[in-house]
Amino acid sequence: MRRLLITGAAGALGSVLRESLKGYADVLRLSDIADMGAAREGEEVVQCDLGDFDAVRGLVDGTDGIVHLGGVSREGAFEAILNANFRGTYHIFEAARQTGKQRVLFASSNHAIGFHEREDRLGKDAPYRADSIYGVSKCYGEIMARYYFDKFGIESVSVRIGSCFPEPRDRRMLATWLSYADFTSLVKAMFDAARTGAAMVYGASDNKEQWWDNGHAAFLGWHPQDSAEGFRAKVEAATPEPDWQDPAVRYHGGSFAAAGHFEDD
Ligand SMILES: NC(=O)c1ccc[n+]([C@@H]2O[C@H](COP(=O)([O-])OP(=O)(O)OC[C@H]3O[C@@H](n4cnc5c(N)ncnc54)[C@H](O)[C@@H]3O)[C@@H](O)[C@H]2O)c1
Repeated sequence: MRRLLITGAAGALGSVLRESLKGYADVLRLSDIADMGAAREGEEVVQCDLGDFDAVRGLVDGTDGIVHLGGVSREGAFEAILNANFRGTYHIFEAARQTGKQRVLFASSNHAIGFHEREDRLGKDAPYRADSIYGVSKCYGEIMARYYFDKFGIESVSVRIGSCFPEPRDRRMLATWLSYADFTSLVKAMFDAARTGAAMVYGASDNKEQWWDNGHAAFLGWHPQDSAEGFRAKVEAATPEPDWQDPAVRYHGGSFAAAGHFEDD
């Protein structure tokens, strides 16, 4: 890998990968609409808005792979999601088609399937059940990835990231937690794989409580090493017993499923 592009590089996961992928590619090309600080050795820093196609085309040109994390990462105003997630994701795939057919990691989300009930273990064929406009934008991104592979052969992996944080913060995350180390190994696995097609992978560590089945993606050879289980006692001591009538407890998407429309109080 000579030059790997990371969008959303100023964000939480972008900052993690900026460190953990150091040396994985000769050059990390880092991009965000926000300030990322100065480029360090082995880095290029390009500030741009994903909603600007000409800028995104220039950003993607000359890269060998794309980790597309940039965008609105929670429920929010439709116009912001429209620009960053809908327009921006189209721009990434279209720029890849025009410049080098680079393999793309699309940072999808569990909120694309957030309205499934927690007793249902989901695999690759689970129907989309977004729990938010944000979740709808992730369904769209996955469909865009599939379309660009079927029509133009651009390979991708859409990662339905669960909860990627230093450690699980609540009881839901005992099932949805993805450690930074496991996320990093997944990124490497998908770029190292001989081929990916337009795969979808659930992004969760090897937690005891499992809502998602990645059997279909075994060909990637990704084996998460961490587990939320070691945090269970701490999390349970700090959080109340779950109320199973509460939509935030009943559905995969947690609080996103329970929240009202983004414009409501
Ligand atoms: N962290 C998680 O647990 C988690 C879970 C599910 C999905 N994801 C997805 O993974 C990705 C990264 O998540 P994160 O937690 O680092 O989010 P984050 O909000 O910390 O980072 C997103 C970055 O995208 C940038 N951005 C927003 N609009 C932009 C635009 N128009 N042009 C260019 N850049 C823009 C932001 O400035 C920000 O730095 C997101 O796409 C998110 O939806 C994350």
